[in-house]
Amino acid sequence: MSSSRFCSSLYLLTFAFLLRTVFGADPLFHFCSSSEKFEAGSPYEENLNKFMGYLYCQAPPTGFGRGVLGDKPNQTIGLALCRGDVLTVDCNTCVVDASTEIRKRCPYNRAAVIFYDNCLLKYSDKDFFGEIDNENKFYLYNAEKVRNPTTFNKKTKELLSQLAIQAQSSLKLFAVGQLKVKNSQTIYGLTQCTREMPAEVCRRCLDGIIGELPSCCDAQKGGRVISGSCNFRYELYQFVHLR
Ligand SMILES: *[C@@H]1O[C@H](CO)[C@@H](O)[C@H](O)[C@H]1NC(C)=O
Repeated sequence: MSSSRFCSSLYLLTFAFLLRTVFGADPLFHFCSSSEKFEAGSPYEENLNKFMGYLYCQAPPTGFGRGVLGDKPNQTIGLALCRGDVLTVDCNTCVVDASTEIRKRCPYNRAAVIFYDNCLLKYSDKDFFGEIDNENKFYLYNAEKVRNPTTFNKKTKELLSQLAIQAQSSLKLFAVGQLKVKNSQTIYGLTQCTREMPAEVCRRCLDGIIGELPSCCDAQKGGRVISGSCNFRYELYQFVHLR
């Protein structure tokens, strides 16, 4: 983290400014994933605060940042990931929102994760890099149902499974695509993994959550399974920014 000192002081200024001026999007969900607490002013809190500054600098330019800060047992380990199609400026806003909001929602928890449409931010006092996260996981779906559930479910699974293969072989572990069900119905899909994951673990993570389609989103017009390590989304409209 040698280049982060300048970045951190810049961050503190910008951060304070943004806190007062920006009211960002609401998070989709969060987990205060460890019930273990740290104390105000403790070495862990110091590391965590520095770490948020580090992520805010590291993540936006490439859409992904991760790091380890401090020494065990007060080490902070974490990452921030923006959705693969999100512009740097929006990634920035999202990671700043996420780092502020996660501290408000899980003020003294030693591990937490927060999710937005545009990004996720996760930290812990334990190393979780490269592991499938089955604990921090939730479903979202469009409450409307389709009229042709059998074909629709089959095509949705087909599309997402293709996109899992594509994500595995993409540098950003991210893929988008679409599949026509019938003339008036096209499914748009997205798959993504956190980028510290080995490609084959990413694929396994995606196949796992795609297997949950029947419980999360059976016949629903749109759906998402979102975990701390991978996620998918499908809708009957284009929801990514194609450039
Ligand atoms: C870790 O933090 C605790 C307080 O939370 C402190 O007592 C301990 O000395 C710290 N350990 C190290 C190695 O910094």
